[in-house]
Amino acid sequence: HETLADKQYRPNIHFSPPTGFMNDPNGLIFDGRYFHLYYQYNPFGPYAGHVHWGHAVSTDLYTWQDLPIAIRETEAGEAYSGCAVLDRDNRSGLFPPRTQDKPQPGSVETAAQKAAQLFPSLPEDEQDRRSVNKQAQDLLDKTKTNTDLLRQLSDNPVSRDMSPVPMAPALPPMAGGLVAIYTRATPQRQTQYIAWSPDGGQTLKDYEGNPVLDIGHNSFRDPKVIWHAPTEKWVMVVVRSREHKVSFYGSFDLKHWMHLSDFGPSGITGVDYECPALAEVEVEGEAPGEKRWVLFVSINPGGPQGGSITQYFVGQFDGERFTPDDTIVDLTDFGKDSYALQTYENMPGNQTVYIAWLDNWQYCEELPNKSWRGIMTIPRKVVLRRDTAGWLRIAQNPYGLEALRQPAIPFALSRLEPQSSRQLSLPTGDAVELLLDVSLEDRASNLPDGDQGRAGRFVVAFSNRQGESLSIGFDGFSCQLWLDRSNLHGFTHPFFTGTFSSALIPGSRRFKLRIVLDACTLEVFANEGMSVGTALIYPASPLETLSFQVTNAAAVIHKVALYPLRKTMDR
Ligand code: FRU
Repeated sequence: HETLADKQYRPNIHFSPPTGFMNDPNGLIFDGRYFHLYYQYNPFGPYAGHVHWGHAVSTDLYTWQDLPIAIRETEAGEAYSGCAVLDRDNRSGLFPPRTQDKPQPGSVETAAQKAAQLFPSLPEDEQDRRSVNKQAQDLLDKTKTNTDLLRQLSDNPVSRDMSPVPMAPALPPMAGGLVAIYTRATPQRQTQYIAWSPDGGQTLKDYEGNPVLDIGHNSFRDPKVIWHAPTEKWVMVVVRSREHKVSFYGSFDLKHWMHLSDFGPSGITGVDYECPALAEVEVEGEAPGEKRWVLFVSINPGGPQGGSITQYFVGQFDGERFTPDDTIVDLTDFGKDSYALQTYENMPGNQTVYIAWLDNWQYCEELPNKSWRGIMTIPRKVVLRRDTAGWLRIAQNPYGLEALRQPAIPFALSRLEPQSSRQLSLPTGDAVELLLDVSLEDRASNLPDGDQGRAGRFVVAFSNRQGESLSIGFDGFSCQLWLDRSNLHGFTHPFFTGTFSSALIPGSRRFKLRIVLDACTLEVFANEGMSVGTALIYPASPLETLSFQVTNAAAVIHKVALYPLRKTMDR
């Protein structure tokens, strides 16, 4: 059932599910050996619904190995978003005494057997969401236990093998292990569950005492838990989504939770607050070890660009209460396709690294690809940096991407005269990374005011012979950046708007860009990550040419480099 679009838009370095529908990243944790990526997943069709937790692991955050579904929809509800923590000392008491000290015999085989499971075929009419969901419901009704479901799925002819992850011996013995904290959702109730893993995260077993947190609410979800060392407890941020509140809870054992405080409504409210995240983030360029807390809150719908968006607040957290430093409201992205970010727990060096869902609820279920839907952003490292006005803002940059670079495509360009352009061919089928550092000179005095930028414009365009083009440009007069996907013809939708912009450094005619283009994804990091734009892009035909154009001023190119990126996702 793979269509041309399914192949054409399949990313090379970004995670996408084998089939089915994926949304939020969940349970992001480094366990000392693997980075885990669990994700909101409907294995039955390319639409949201019947939410399970899909699972993949990686050692570099780009090369992902699929693992069996980790949490299933049950009679208790769908498995909505949540997180994972490492309970090293078995403070939860969920782990049987001492078994973690020895390797688990048979765990590799079990994983391999389970990996043989897969998905029912998609119905002919893939547009019919009701029939997909009906089929899924029937299947779930018929299969009361996971074992039955697994058996039934693996009998299916369209099953695709998932290779098991070879278990490295490396983890030091620990008394406890990985615990997931997530929301069970029914239309009536949203409650918080915990599940523990006997085998390093491959399987998650629900605690019998679930739910561990139930306030009798139907919009109470998306717990993100961190270990708060100064007060030696776990802290959960979770939303009362319709009330636009982030609630803080504390726990010593992950089973009992005490309400600590509430934050919000604050900033943009939209319809629902979703997927909060709290992280202590390094402040760049100040005293070493200087940190501040950042609270991220995703909002859907009602983001200023339309639909789903994530805002953040910078402040202090004392173990009970988050206090913002200022009244600034800022978004993580100037595009509209970065949502529900989650920060990695237990990241080496205490760095703050996140992955977000590269999508928007406005159109995620109607994208041109059909046998699979949903993509994650590349991992991004977050630091705090002062902007020109002195306010602490987040700066976000690709994490570990350099390791994927292949030899740069030979191309030299140090200057472009007004109204000129240069172009080069893009490598076919590869993801690419483009680095640029450019200054626009003063506007040439012999040029008229008016069109094409009063004081000069610099345009980076990815185009093809069919006349499609994707442009990222800098306007020297207003010092703003734009991103324009409207001249691509592979997808139209009333909410799939075309152009976005971001104000860069006021008065500065120098700007730096780091652009990652991979199949249907574009990620733009400007000025070392001070402005980030994430966009799905759907050219009807592949983009073949990269060009640089300048109008009404000359451009000095301090640096230009184009790297093909090594493919890490083989789908
Ligand atoms: C955010 C969200 C969460 C919820 C999940 C359901 O995208 O709506 O609030 O837990 O998706 O899949």
